[in-house]
Amino acid sequence: MQKLIVTCALPYANGSLHFGHILEQIQADIWVRFHKMQSYECYFICATDTHGTPIMLKAQHLGIPPEELIKSVHQDHLADLNAFGISFDNYYNTHSQESELLVYQIYNRLKQNNKIYSKVINQLYDEEKGMFLPDRFIKGTCPKCRAVDQYGDNCEACGTTYSPMDLIDAYSTISGNKPVIKESEHYFFKLSECSEFLKKWLDTDNRLQVEAKNKMQEWLESGLQDWDISRDKPYFGFPIPDTHDKFFYVWLDAPVGYLASLLNFCNTNNINYDDLWQDDNVKLYHFIGKDVLYFHALFWPAVLYYSNYKTPQSVFVHGFLTVDGQKMSKSRGTFITAKSYLQSGLSPTFYRYYIASKLSNKIEDIDLSLDDFIARVNSELVGKFINIAARSSSFLSKNFDNKLCAKTQDNSLLDQVLLIKETVAKYYTEREYNKAIRTIMAVVDEINVYVDNTKPWILAKDPAKQEELHKVCSILINAFRLISIYLKPIVPDLIAKIEEFLNISPLMWSDLNSSLCNHAIKPYSHLISRIEPKMIENMLEINKASINDTNVPSNLAAENSIVATQYEAIAETVNIDDFAKIDLRVARIIDAKHVEGADKLLQITLDIGSEQRNVFAGIKSAYNPVDLIGKHTIMVANLAPRKMKFGLSEGMILAASSEDKNSGIYILEPDEGAKPGMRVR
Ligand code: MSP
Ligand code: ZN
Repeated sequence: MQKLIVTCALPYANGSLHFGHILEQIQADIWVRFHKMQSYECYFICATDTHGTPIMLKAQHLGIPPEELIKSVHQDHLADLNAFGISFDNYYNTHSQESELLVYQIYNRLKQNNKIYSKVINQLYDEEKGMFLPDRFIKGTCPKCRAVDQYGDNCEACGTTYSPMDLIDAYSTISGNKPVIKESEHYFFKLSECSEFLKKWLDTDNRLQVEAKNKMQEWLESGLQDWDISRDKPYFGFPIPDTHDKFFYVWLDAPVGYLASLLNFCNTNNINYDDLWQDDNVKLYHFIGKDVLYFHALFWPAVLYYSNYKTPQSVFVHGFLTVDGQKMSKSRGTFITAKSYLQSGLSPTFYRYYIASKLSNKIEDIDLSLDDFIARVNSELVGKFINIAARSSSFLSKNFDNKLCAKTQDNSLLDQVLLIKETVAKYYTEREYNKAIRTIMAVVDEINVYVDNTKPWILAKDPAKQEELHKVCSILINAFRLISIYLKPIVPDLIAKIEEFLNISPLMWSDLNSSLCNHAIKPYSHLISRIEPKMIENMLEINKASINDTNVPSNLAAENSIVATQYEAIAETVNIDDFAKIDLRVARIIDAKHVEGADKLLQITLDIGSEQRNVFAGIKSAYNPVDLIGKHTIMVANLAPRKMKFGLSEGMILAASSEDKNSGIYILEPDEGAKPGMRVR
């Protein structure tokens, strides 16, 4: 039997997970859960992608080491993944020992296979910042159509690609200065020598979807260029051996992160990593978005092949998520983060169901239409599916002590439900989840027709029809159980509740071969509620607010809100001795996170020079934890510790607000240069 290693693309460590990431993770998670339900050995692997210039700059901006930033973002990702039921066996990070080890292993093997060389190239350099500029950090006027403010690699107005050196009036987006041309030695992977191998690799069935295969053929035909795998200092990444000041480009080490996460998983679970790769039954599958096809279909298979690794069996590509027909946009508030959705109290089950109902194995974009989202989830999942249990279980509990009757076999309704078994399995295997759902829901409709025809509520009134009522309800519960098996890869959390209600152990695909007879279920308790339109409005509001928090400079936000403020009366006079009793210290925020179950609090770790303090602060509405890390603030250091529901709070950080809390909360920051532990007086 095949063993599967399945991956999702590694989300970057410079921000929270958004609905596009979650779409990909749901797509892969359904596939993995389906295989695991069929008892396949399957390793579901991912990590945070931690290296590169944007992450380095973000950390600089926050005034913290990149290690601190990536640790905090990694935690943040993990919390969201758990909430959405993404069942990674390991969610690691690429700034790890295992990554470093494997990057060097692979680099050395590529060198041994004569696939690496170095040469001196010219690049644009920002003299003020002392760094070479990646294409995305250079802007200027398009040499072709003269559109202003275009990026260094291609023009969004006319679509031309060019070298950043061709830009007219180029400037560095970091300093705003005009860059100079400077020489530097770079390391290259000889991709140009890999065409033959790649053509062969591509020529195996099911490597790529047709559209992706065509794209790749185009690339192969237009000729492959060698690939620059090095970057100059300053850079956040792994240093290249035998060089000083050179680092591996993030896209070299990122996919190695798949292997590193797997290695870490093997090491902690007593699995032999090398044996796994030697095993012919082990196959590697990648789920990715269309924007990263180039890396996964050209570089990655070639790098694996020339470093003596197994190459990917398939790369599954999906399209982009749009919201109400438009690209996700921060200004429209439709750049939906996993966190905003969760904070609004909407169940992840809804998003999983909706996304599955839209996903096929094509590379088309997928639209989240918010009205359709509400309508579909309410009518199909809640209205049709859950309704089966709601409609039958009340009679079972009133008249039959929750016990199912002795025999439900040879029933045509259940036969009909089982008729789609192979079709549904095929659709899951082929990632045609929209078709799987359509097939399942057509049968759910039949089950509801059965309820309408048998009319259990009429049977219930007739003492002579009790046996029939018992049979009808038992059949309905069995039909409900079979549908639950079908839907389990898509909505596992909901099905877990159903397993509890049915009083059964976790459902596997093979459970389709059995039925529940002579079995006591539990009394029906509410399984899931409908989506109310105002929940969506609320989610969008939360999302907008969180986007504003992180993007509007705090001084601007303050300016806007001060207008309508009524000033609070000045408090009673104190003397200097009263004031001196309060020990105020400069503190550096070294960690900040959400507190499970707390609406208003963030948990903050403070460095006050001599020691660290744990503080719970009521600033959740105003700050995203990641954005706090690295900031300096002022704390009351001698406030009596207070035991709270979530732990001990050892002090208080100072923040400004008006009586009307809607006008915001602003934590205090000392002037630049103040050091943790300094006293404020
Ligand atoms: N770090 C790289 C991947 C390295 S894999 C060795 C990266 N990160 S990402 O955070 O930008 O994207 C991660 C995945 O999310 C990619 O597969 C990307 O295509 C996907 N998505 C990002 N935005 C998306 C949408 N709006 N819609 C659907 N998927 C999208 O690229
Ligand atoms: Zn142009």
